[in-house]
Amino acid sequence: MKRILSCMQPTNRLQLGNYLGALRNWVAMQDEDGGVNECLYGVVDLHAITVPHDKEALANATRETAAAYIAAGVDPKRSYIFAQSAVPAHAQLAWLFTATTPMGWLNRMTQFKEKAGKNKEKASVGLYSYPILMAADILIYKATHVPVGDDQKQHLELARDIAGSFNEKFNCGEEFFPLPEPVITGEATRVMSLRDGTQKMSKSAESDMTRINLTDDADTIAKKIKKAKSDPDALPSNEKECEGRPEADNLLGIYAALSDQTKEQVMNEFGGKQFSEFKPALADLAVEKLSPITNRMNELMADPAEIDAILRAGAEKANELAQPTCDEAAKLMGFWS
Ligand code: AMP
Ligand code: TRP
Repeated sequence: MKRILSCMQPTNRLQLGNYLGALRNWVAMQDEDGGVNECLYGVVDLHAITVPHDKEALANATRETAAAYIAAGVDPKRSYIFAQSAVPAHAQLAWLFTATTPMGWLNRMTQFKEKAGKNKEKASVGLYSYPILMAADILIYKATHVPVGDDQKQHLELARDIAGSFNEKFNCGEEFFPLPEPVITGEATRVMSLRDGTQKMSKSAESDMTRINLTDDADTIAKKIKKAKSDPDALPSNEKECEGRPEADNLLGIYAALSDQTKEQVMNEFGGKQFSEFKPALADLAVEKLSPITNRMNELMADPAEIDAILRAGAEKANELAQPTCDEAAKLMGFWS
């Protein structure tokens, strides 16, 4: 049996990259081998406050993120969905790690450099130490597998380093914190912006035209795909022809992931054809696959009390699993009690 853990931040709306790079794989892992895996899916609101946040919007964004998980196929009867802030052991374990992790390890993290931008002095300490809280999110459950998009690879490596170093430093054998395996899989582990194939699609990019949100209606999806940046040439027929054509490569990858094919299969079908033929096909496919999720999300959001009940039940279970690990870790470090 595997123990699966993954999380998303309740910041802005979820976008296609979140779905294809991560959420879809969460559902697949929940259903794998007849559903034997134990799955925990968190909404990491403590991470969301590392950048300026809207106090009025946070709780609802947490509900909406949980609704997106369920709408995409996470089954709250089999998987635990919870808000990170409702499980205090995340923050407790994060402090134990913060106090003992070398700054050099964090200085290597590229995402902080990207997110802090030029104004490093003004970035919060939390944004800097964010990967340590993420390591705590994973290790507090002794998770064995973590399905994420490609951009989280480096953070997962840090979580493995923290686990290994704790096990060694406090002589608790190799097994106290198992080293979590990243699961980065599928044809769209890194979905790129619709307006610039060299930039990652992101919830926080300024222009809404760069991404497809899980809440977009059919017309908006079609419009965004029609306006997506492409190039004047016909679609590539093989990997070699994709070189230097990031936008074509990205749209083919999205088509492949949405249609459960390999990119090669999609190139066999569309290679040599014009974007004017490919884009409407992609728009139809995206609407077909995403609109059931959007509709289900809207239904769920109409009953926030039901989502709150799911989050409460998830937090209860998560607390049961998390607190003993935190207490044990504290004991291994020599604390009184
Ligand atoms: P975030 O939006 O940063 O909370 O990301 C939540 C999850 O979605 C993580 O597993 C990310 O790796 C994944 N993800 C975010 N953006 C993308 C993208 N453009 N392509 C693939 N995966 C992504
Ligand atoms: N850092 C992740 C992101 O921005 C979100 C995250 C927080 C996470 N804690 C996690 C992902 C634990 C996987 C496991 O996408």
